[in-house]
Amino acid sequence: MRGDLERVLFDEPAIHRRLDDIAAQISNDYRERELTVIAVLHGSLMFVADLLRRIPLPLKLECLSVASYHGKTQTTGEVIFKQITLPDIVGRDVLILDDILDSGHTLAAIREALEMAKPQSIRVCVLLSKKKQRAREVETDYIGFEIEDEFVVGYGLDFRERYRNLPYIGVLRRELLDQPDK
Ligand code: IMP
Ligand code: MG
Repeated sequence: MRGDLERVLFDEPAIHRRLDDIAAQISNDYRERELTVIAVLHGSLMFVADLLRRIPLPLKLECLSVASYHGKTQTTGEVIFKQITLPDIVGRDVLILDDILDSGHTLAAIREALEMAKPQSIRVCVLLSKKKQRAREVETDYIGFEIEDEFVVGYGLDFRERYRNLPYIGVLRRELLDQPDK
């Protein structure tokens, strides 16, 4: 799999060091409150598992699953929720965790849907944020790393459901993006 990458952006120690910082910030910001973490699957799996183990606070964990890519590398703009009911978050302090902020469609739609469920507060934490003009602006409270507008995989992030198990994050070789799916 390493051969499919153009270059590695963040190796395991770099990711873990950054998680230490973000976890410390979150733990400090929420020390008087009980968090409800909403993990956006599947991309945030590794991130959520490693981050939450660094937060020594009482919290609840809920998962959401959405689709917006349909196997392509460009978002269609349509965000489909894969569950019928959203978690009960009335009066709760919600922290949304996602792998990457790209066009903004996904997180904007999730935030909008969760705001209708009357939480006390909502914050957004992403591991990666692409530096680019977004289709929809999304307010983020915690960002792991800012990256250029390139397609990245690993540490939960996929291309056609593959590469999620790489322990590091890297840029996928461009020519692989255009090949037909196997
Ligand atoms: P957005 O709706 O365009 O902001 O895209 C968000 C979702 O698209 C993320 O949660 C990822 O699942 C996926 N995505 C966006 N950019 C990348 C990338 O570079 N690599 C892998 N997945 C990506
Ligand atoms: Mg994906």
